[in-house]
Amino acid sequence: MNAAEQRQTKPERSGSATDPLRRLGAAVRSRGYYRTLRRLHEILAPRTYLEIGIRKGDSLALAASAAVAIGIDPKPMLSKPTASNAKIFAFTSDEFFATHDVRAELGGRDLDLAFIDGMHLFEYVLRDFANVERCSSPGTVIVLHDCLPVDELSASRERTTSLWTGDVWKVVPVLRRFRPDLNLTIVDASPSGLVIVEGLDPASTVLDESSASIVEEFTPLGFGHFEKTRKGMLEFAADLETWAEGRDGRRRG
Ligand SMILES: C[S@@+](CC[C@H](N)C(=O)[O-])C[C@H]1O[C@@H](n2cnc3c(N)ncnc32)[C@H](O)[C@@H]1O
Repeated sequence: MNAAEQRQTKPERSGSATDPLRRLGAAVRSRGYYRTLRRLHEILAPRTYLEIGIRKGDSLALAASAAVAIGIDPKPMLSKPTASNAKIFAFTSDEFFATHDVRAELGGRDLDLAFIDGMHLFEYVLRDFANVERCSSPGTVIVLHDCLPVDELSASRERTTSLWTGDVWKVVPVLRRFRPDLNLTIVDASPSGLVIVEGLDPASTVLDESSASIVEEFTPLGFGHFEKTRKGMLEFAADLETWAEGRDGRRRG
């Protein structure tokens, strides 16, 4: 594990006065994204689920309908016993994908739903996305966390706050530019948004091939760039029920 991963796997501490989690108060602490994820599980009823970054297992536990729920985290901090469908892998996501066959771990089944919430630096999330997409099928849905940062401090690449989105927001402009074939929907779930990605292509190599130039161009971008592009990002926003209504039509093409 490298230094950035060591910092990300540290347990959360209560925030300082400048910590957005403390400033934004109870609405943020309630972490409404669990409600959105719970509803997404009801809508999709995934038979198979994969989550990168499970921490205490709270979002993993929402995969109750799944026959198999894979959880990947180098330092899981599970607070209660996991459900019988859970398979926990104490690896970084890069280590996991380099050493495991996802389909085999899913008992030969297709992957229905994946939630990417591991290392909060955009280049890691892009790698996670590409690795998950490689084992996707036409019906797979990938959900990304933290693409709507709440402020500059918690969106910086260096973690200094308990609520830390890092610069994961850069994944949205990267996918829009390099993968216009994907269907992105932003759900403004508190505190920092969810992005639903459909129309995956397991054969796509675009992100891998462009990774060096993407990192060079996007790493220096600061929070000001996000603020300028926030409006354009929100063009892709919808509530979950509207997204669900359009899903069958999108799948038929
Ligand atoms: C924000 S927490 C996940 C929260 C969980 N998904 C939830 O909503 O309840 C991020 C987790 O990512 C894990 N993590 C950090 N680096 C990682 C990596 N390279 N691969 C996979 N997980 C990683 C951390 O250990 C931490 O538990």
